Amino acid sequence: MSTIFEPWKLGRIELANRVVMAPMTRNRADVAGVLPDSAATYYAQRAGAGLIITEGTQPSAAAQGYPGTPGLHTDDQEKAWARVADAVHATGGRIFCQLMHTGRISHESLIPADARVVAPSAVRARLDVARADGVMVPAPEPVPLDEAGIRQVIEDFAAAAARAARAGLDGVELHAANGYLLHQFLSPGTNLRTDRWGGSPEGRARFVVEVTAAVAERIGADRVGVRISPGGQFNDMADKGNEDTYMALADALAPLRPAYLHTLRRRSSPLHTELRRRWPTTYLLNTGYLGGSELADVAPLVGEEADLVSVGRLFISNPDLVRRWRENLPRAAWDESTFFTPGDAGYVDYPAHSAVADPEQGSDA
Ligand SMILES: Cc1cc2nc3c(=O)[nH]c(=O)nc-3n(C[C@H](O)[C@H](O)[C@H](O)COP(=O)(O)O)c2cc1C
Repeated sequence: MSTIFEPWKLGRIELANRVVMAPMTRNRADVAGVLPDSAATYYAQRAGAGLIITEGTQPSAAAQGYPGTPGLHTDDQEKAWARVADAVHATGGRIFCQLMHTGRISHESLIPADARVVAPSAVRARLDVARADGVMVPAPEPVPLDEAGIRQVIEDFAAAAARAARAGLDGVELHAANGYLLHQFLSPGTNLRTDRWGGSPEGRARFVVEVTAAVAERIGADRVGVRISPGGQFNDMADKGNEDTYMALADALAPLRPAYLHTLRRRSSPLHTELRRRWPTTYLLNTGYLGGSELADVAPLVGEEADLVSVGRLFISNPDLVRRWRENLPRAAWDESTFFTPGDAGYVDYPAHSAVADPEQGSDA
């Protein structure tokens, strides 16, 4: 039980404990993709996590897939992230920025007029996506990326990572999970390509490997993590039976020695055991939606099954979650209705435990 509260060396940084705040989109940025000042407060409140992984952040204007997600491709966006990094570091925390290109999960109204909704292949997601005005409409048929387009996306990720480093963020996480662009390349249901970026496990893994290599070259491999969701069905993915691609991916990434691999896991399986066994650096596990993420669920995983565990929603409603776990203080429930709404409600107004009236002490008053 106590290992989870012990420090861990992640690349060049020291984490105070093994609990990671999972990446969570909160849709509070303005139309220019700039985070509000309250974002610095929000993340600093949660700096008791060993590591914070930020909300998904677009590396280019063309990579956006939801209204209100932040970017990291303009100077104003970078300045806002620098304020976040400073606030988290001032509180003793560590923070990686998740870089997310949503690929086919997007809408023309969210991206520049000369951009297209892109994917590895022209396979439409059978779901509704948000327009810039928030109205839900059927997902468009994406345009397959050509080679120049692929090179541009890789360069956009590397440039955003350079901005992240310049803003003082400790590193970046590449979002190759949950049905977004990098995952779309990994999965045979969305990647029908017959060129070098498809057609075989190695081919489907190539784009993620090339993005990782380009980002590692720009900021150092020990500042790059990769998030995957093998078998995941979110966003109309058909990723079941795709184990060979994930093994090919892990084998191709391993020599680069990224800071970590971050896996969403439904249940233990031979693939997960093998990924953990083969992965040469830090292994980070998220069992949340799937297996629960209370202390009793995740603490036993630290050691044998993972080096670090990530927790999402509990961190929304318990900014001081690690202290509450350590001291066995009660946990507050989250309010789903404010997950994605603009403004401070449900964002920076969940108090730390010390600020909550303690019923036992209160009885004397
Ligand atoms: C509000 C919300 C936003 C999320 N946004 C992201 C995201 O931007 N990137 C990502 O990789 N996962 C995202 N997720 C998934 C979480 O990282 C995590 O895997 C999930 O919440 C399960 O963990 P939990 O049960 O501890 O919350 C999001 C989840 C929630 C609840």
